[in-house]
Amino acid sequence: SAPTTYKIAAIPADGVGAEVVAAGRTVLDAMAAASGGTFAFDWTEFPWSCEYYTRTGRMMAEDGLDVLRDFDAIYFGAVGWPSVPDHISLWGLRLKICQNFDQWANIRPVHFHPGITSPLRKADDADLDWVVVRENSEGEYAGLGGRNLSGRGEGNEVALQTALFTERGCERIIRFAFDLARERPRKKVSSVTKSNAQQFGMVLWDETFTRVARDYPDVETESVLVDAMAAKFVLKPEDLSVVVASNLNADILSDLGSALAGSLGLAASANLNPDRRFPSMFEPVHGSAPDIAGRGLANPAGAIGSAALMLDHFGLQAEAARLNAAIEATAAAGVLTPDVGGNAKTDEVTEAVLGVLSEWP
Ligand code: NAI
Ligand code: MG
Repeated sequence: SAPTTYKIAAIPADGVGAEVVAAGRTVLDAMAAASGGTFAFDWTEFPWSCEYYTRTGRMMAEDGLDVLRDFDAIYFGAVGWPSVPDHISLWGLRLKICQNFDQWANIRPVHFHPGITSPLRKADDADLDWVVVRENSEGEYAGLGGRNLSGRGEGNEVALQTALFTERGCERIIRFAFDLARERPRKKVSSVTKSNAQQFGMVLWDETFTRVARDYPDVETESVLVDAMAAKFVLKPEDLSVVVASNLNADILSDLGSALAGSLGLAASANLNPDRRFPSMFEPVHGSAPDIAGRGLANPAGAIGSAALMLDHFGLQAEAARLNAAIEATAAAGVLTPDVGGNAKTDEVTEAVLGVLSEWP
């Protein structure tokens, strides 16, 4: 029978985005070719980026969202370049997609890679195996607020940046975290807020967490303030499994998590629309890395790991596990980019992953 063909929109965007998206596509195409006609990928690449903005005044085509709607998934690189203010590029492309496609769950696994030295003194598979679940549709990134640019005179400008918390928004991400914890070896959810200082939204979050937890008596829970959680990431990593937090807090914590794993370049993520009304988007956690872009130095592991999350989303669990294992085997064999202490190029890591995949039955 004909293979199941997944229509994927590739948006490499800026900087190392192009290098790591190319790496991920190569690996996915090789897996499809080896699947014995089970599945295939039909790629369409879009040029939306800061360079596109400079040419057109827009970060994406005017009908971009309508075009993307029909794809099975979006495979994204990274957006942002010094030529365009970051809030324009981020809101014009990545946040626009996340918000309009209601990709309310941002999943960011953090795990130990054998062969990569963690800055933590004690770190192995048992210590470092978490998933940061980030609320991805509201909170601090709701885009609410404004600036009083002139009304109060020079030097007296005022800005409001308001965080939005809805009970439904809190409940759905917290439930998602509990459902995920049930599938993991350690059944525990750690909820992160700053409800001592932020007494409205974060208290609503805490109360929702307590209420939802009653439906999951088999799952261990804790509520931790974000500053304390930053310390706990470093000092008691073995005590964490699923960490659920608001948009900003989870963004910061997941960068800390990937740094503890060894590099931002390792971290994978999925922006999921769990209701599957819209395409979900898969992307490495890192940005466009202007300091290393265009030199073949980017670590493709985060982007390839994001491709594995995409396979998982399509129901190809065995293939996703195979790909993650191949990324780890490549690191364990010492094929490492400079960010994790090696001197391999992006392409060499990609080739090594392909090599491992082809050797396995
Ligand atoms: P960044 O993640 O681009 O870079 C931070 C550091 O990590 C740099 O030293 C960089 O060389 C290193 N790094 C990042 N990815 C790497 C990789 N694959 N391999 C090896 N090293 C890697 O964050 P930064 O510098 O704060 O932001 C640069 C631009 O990216 C900005 O315009 C920012 O707005 C944008 N950005 C976009 C994101 C997205 O599209 N999801 C996420 C974060 C930042
Ligand atoms: Mg971030």
